[in-house]
Amino acid sequence: MKKQLTLKKVDENNFIECFNLNLGYGQDKFVSHPIRSLAQAYVYYNQCTPFAIYKDTTIIGYVMVIYDYDEETYNIWHMMIDEKYQGKGYGTEAVELCIDYIKSKPFGESNDIILSCNMNNPHAIHIYEKLGFKDTGERDNDEIIMKLSI
Ligand SMILES: CC(C)(COP(=O)(O)OP(=O)(O)OC[C@H]1O[C@@H](n2cnc3c(N)ncnc32)[C@H](O)[C@@H]1OP(=O)(O)O)[C@@H](O)C(=O)NCCC(=O)NCCS
Repeated sequence: MKKQLTLKKVDENNFIECFNLNLGYGQDKFVSHPIRSLAQAYVYYNQCTPFAIYKDTTIIGYVMVIYDYDEETYNIWHMMIDEKYQGKGYGTEAVELCIDYIKSKPFGESNDIILSCNMNNPHAIHIYEKLGFKDTGERDNDEIIMKLSI
């Protein structure tokens, strides 16, 4: 299906828009807000790309792709769709766009994508399984570690 969304790197033109994204009630236990994520992006600046997710000119979400040079894996962190735009297929499409970006091997040659997802977040787990991610069996407290090989 034709993509409706675009990923734009976060820069001086759109970081305030990222700050203004909203999670739904109780969703802050599943993901860091973009404000916190962008602080981490500063620390890991040489191994990550934080993205604002747009539908046309409207920001609808945020996600970060980060490379682990020790494990030689790509990771998707802090995926979120603003509460106003959830349930419209945008989260699925945004993860597909991250996978396309990772296929361009922006940091290293790895074909492995890892992410962690709270086990009480079936909506997100469903998206990742639909896109081919598999439960690795590893756990990090309440988080399920999932992996896709591209
Ligand atoms: C998880 C999140 C990114 C999903 O984005 P989204 O745009 O709402 O997801 P989509 O619209 O692409 O929905 C994907 C699937 O979930 C289903 N779904 C939609 N709303 C749902 C709900 N409230 N409960 C359960 N499943 C739901 C859809 O039917 C769809 O399945 P299908 O394609 O098989 O029909 C978004 O809800 C979000 O930002 N949540 C808060 C932060 C978070 O949990 N991030 C994940 C960190 S791992």
